Amino acid sequence: MKLLVTGGAGFIGSNFVRYWLKNYPMDVVVTVDALTYAGNLENLSDVSDNPQYKFVRGDICDRELIFSLVKDVDVVVHFAAESHVDRSILDPGAFVRTNVMGTQMLLDAVKEYGKRFHHISTDEVFGALSPTDPSFTETTKYDPRSPYSASKAASDHLVRAYFHTYRTAVTISNCSNNYGPYHFPEKIIPLFITNLLEGKKVPVYGDGQQVRDWIHVEDHCRGIDFILHKGRIGETYCLGGDNEITNLDLTKKLISLLGKDESFIEYVADRPGHDRRYAIDFTKARQDLEWEPLITLDEGLEKTVQWYIEHQEWVNRCKSGEYKEFYAQQYGR
Ligand code: NAD
Ligand code: DAU
Repeated sequence: MKLLVTGGAGFIGSNFVRYWLKNYPMDVVVTVDALTYAGNLENLSDVSDNPQYKFVRGDICDRELIFSLVKDVDVVVHFAAESHVDRSILDPGAFVRTNVMGTQMLLDAVKEYGKRFHHISTDEVFGALSPTDPSFTETTKYDPRSPYSASKAASDHLVRAYFHTYRTAVTISNCSNNYGPYHFPEKIIPLFITNLLEGKKVPVYGDGQQVRDWIHVEDHCRGIDFILHKGRIGETYCLGGDNEITNLDLTKKLISLLGKDESFIEYVADRPGHDRRYAIDFTKARQDLEWEPLITLDEGLEKTVQWYIEHQEWVNRCKSGEYKEFYAQQYGR
């Protein structure tokens, strides 16, 4: 099989490329990535000389490039996106361009050449839960509340529209918060680990009582594998980690793993429109695909902290240049 992986130089995309080449060494993986601030070729340096792997620098909105790449593969696995909620609050336009228009460009190419398309989406499209609400399922009503989640919701709707209108061979997965190696240090887990390693405080938004469900990126990649091999065309699958935890409790776990104390917590202004709770019910994936997450949060966090300890040069490079300017300008830190 020949796969086109969009956004393969980002966090989940690079973990997926590595996962696929390891588990399916006869397959060919072509990655297309624009290498925005979040994309990093270093994330793929350990596969760069694998003859089954090819990297193409490019934008998913570039029609000529995308049509030529899609024509030549069997399946498109679509990760490329603007992915950070805080940045979407500052600049929604970039999110509409890549997440909505970029997805539509890929769908046009997939439709033209009759290829299979798997769309990586998020649980954020379902909105926010109260503490007593049941978890999100595949039939939960869409209620996106940030520019990021609104752009992902729009892309999910387009994917389903191509299935219903043109019978394009699509599947969708809506996954909860990922963590693991190569996670860009702007999201809570890698930001907090790397700040603590640098002896800096960690900025907890609001009261820290917001709840997220955390899944190790390897479990997510395995879920996508199961959907590609066993999923039914036209279907959506929710993937989660079964690890609901408040941001404050998560922060305390990281502080303890890094041998620090709670004086490293700094409560800062809340994120505008901050969703209170996300939680995923993945019964459908468990029953139809026989998939479930295998890595516990404690085990995964310990491995992740160790990875960041061993990759401080990678972190320093991520946290320089555009990153430094962005944080100084937006947050004065
Ligand atoms: P990321 O920000 O780490 O990586 C995104 C990648 O897309 C980068 O390599 C970037 O260079 C590339 N990219 C951005 N715009 C592009 C464009 N116009 N053309 C080509 N490439 C472009 O993101 P991530 O956390 O790895 O997320 C990957 C996907 O998974 C996204 O679609 C996201 O919505 C979804 N998702 C993420 C999570 C999570 O917790 N991180 C959870 C559920 C779903
Ligand atoms: O739920 C899936 C989503 O998870 C993905 O679709 C997104 O691409 C991904 O970025 C992630 O979104 P979140 O907004 O949940 O992730 P983030 O790490 O930015 O924030 C997690 C929680 O931590 C959230 O409640 C906000 C809080 N937070 C975050 C940062 C960066 C803080 O308290 N302080 C921080 O500095």
